Amino acid sequence: PRRIIIDTDPGQDDAVAILLALASPELEVLGITAVAGNVPLRLTERNARILCEIAGRTDIPVFAGCDAPLARPLVTAEHVHGKTGLDGPALPDPTLPLQERHAVDYLIETLRSEPAGSITLCPLGPLTNIAAMLQRAPDVAPRIREIVLMGGAYFEVGNITPTAEFNIFVDPEAAAIVFGAGVPLVVMPLDVTHKAVTDRARVARFREMGTRIGELVEEWMDFFERFDREKYGSEGAPLHDPCVIAYLLNPDLFLGRHINVEIETEGRFTTGMTVADWWRVSDRTPNALFMRDLDADGFFALLTERIARL
Ligand code: BDR
Ligand code: CA
Repeated sequence: PRRIIIDTDPGQDDAVAILLALASPELEVLGITAVAGNVPLRLTERNARILCEIAGRTDIPVFAGCDAPLARPLVTAEHVHGKTGLDGPALPDPTLPLQERHAVDYLIETLRSEPAGSITLCPLGPLTNIAAMLQRAPDVAPRIREIVLMGGAYFEVGNITPTAEFNIFVDPEAAAIVFGAGVPLVVMPLDVTHKAVTDRARVARFREMGTRIGELVEEWMDFFERFDREKYGSEGAPLHDPCVIAYLLNPDLFLGRHINVEIETEGRFTTGMTVADWWRVSDRTPNALFMRDLDADGFFALLTERIARL
């Protein structure tokens, strides 16, 4: 199996991404690192532990990482995810203990001790932990097989400002470090994730599984959809973060281009924008496979088939 570390700020869509990974034998989840994002760190690390327990995977170590962006105060998204980050169903208190090591130490030590090129990183939140790791230990960069992340937007513009997507906006300095690190990068921007939108029929399939996890996912979607229905009048909610895991399982579901993507860190109106050179009009070197399209039916078929296994 492909060996991955998930860096996350759960989040209902992070939750579904983590469950998708845990349900898939093609992937081996070595550990989960939590970062501040949708909600503060003490909640994201807690949510990550709850998710491992729900999936019956108390063997997976969960580490807490950075509690604030590299150079800015934290911006959170309770307006989307609720107070706990995983609002919707009532969830048990976690009993799985948090690991003592800091997430950044865990990332550095694991990348140094495991064979070079064997570990893929899957960031689903602000890139603070990943950037802190690269800053502190530049020697780990060439040891990373690939970073497949959810973040950014280009044609689909922004969801937290008119031009910026949340994960990049929260820590643009961190994003700039990650996009400039020379590590193979696959990016799932809003251009893709806004095609992975739930609707009645798609959500019904989770309930029809007749499993506790199917029911939990349905209740998370029910809560998560409220924001998009009220704000945008759309039928459902975008399953942003599961796109990262779906890519690892079936890259043919996605279409993109290998292009240059720079992060705006100083814009007057555009801080956190992912400036994607889609038409290759600059001479800047391509640094990312920037996705733009998704086979949405194929994505939901894969997702429901896997979640039903749990
Ligand atoms: C991203 O921001 C968070 O709210 C979601 O979990 C996702 O990672 C979408 O912009
Ligand atoms: Ca997230």
